[in-house]
Amino acid sequence: MRKVLIACEFSGRVRDAFKAKGHDAWSCDLLPTERPGKHIQGDVRTALMQQWDLMIAFPPCTHLCSSGARWWPEKQKDGRQQKAVDFVYMLLGQQIPFIAVENPIGKISTAIRKPDQIIQPWQFGHGDVFVVAEFAQVDSYGYCGW
Ligand SMILES: C[S@@+](CC[C@H](N)C(=O)[O-])C[C@H]1O[C@@H](n2cnc3c(N)ncnc32)[C@H](O)[C@@H]1O
Repeated sequence: MRKVLIACEFSGRVRDAFKAKGHDAWSCDLLPTERPGKHIQGDVRTALMQQWDLMIAFPPCTHLCSSGARWWPEKQKDGRQQKAVDFVYMLLGQQIPFIAVENPIGKISTAIRKPDQIIQPWQFGHGDVFVVAEFAQVDSYGYCGW
């Protein structure tokens, strides 16, 4: 059994998938969890003071995703984008044996590094991209894994 942190998750979906496989899985988000389960409500930086075997993180993409690129100059000027990049950089830099970070295509690729994987929902057999995109809370640009 591994101690698993699902960072920036309030839905509990990924947490519960790991729990179903027998792991000690916790979600962490500023928001309360949507369904009962092991959840740390608060800043993930506090949860990261504990020891974890594996972390999967879904950091906010609001200031990072290419679909919002028309607002980047404003966000670069006022520091919002750099703050979002710093948050992802902090997550990727944790001393945890296994780390995966998910985010749509966007600023991380140039500010930190290119993703290890780019995934489209249809690659997993889903016929209707838009329904799947809504379900997965991503847009039709695809999303990336680091
Ligand atoms: C793109 S959403 C991911 C939602 C996730 N896929 C789910 O199923 O719940 C990003 C989440 O990061 C959370 N968040 C932002 N900053 C955070 C922080 N410092 N610590 C913990 N969670 C944070 C937000 O509250 C938001 O729920």
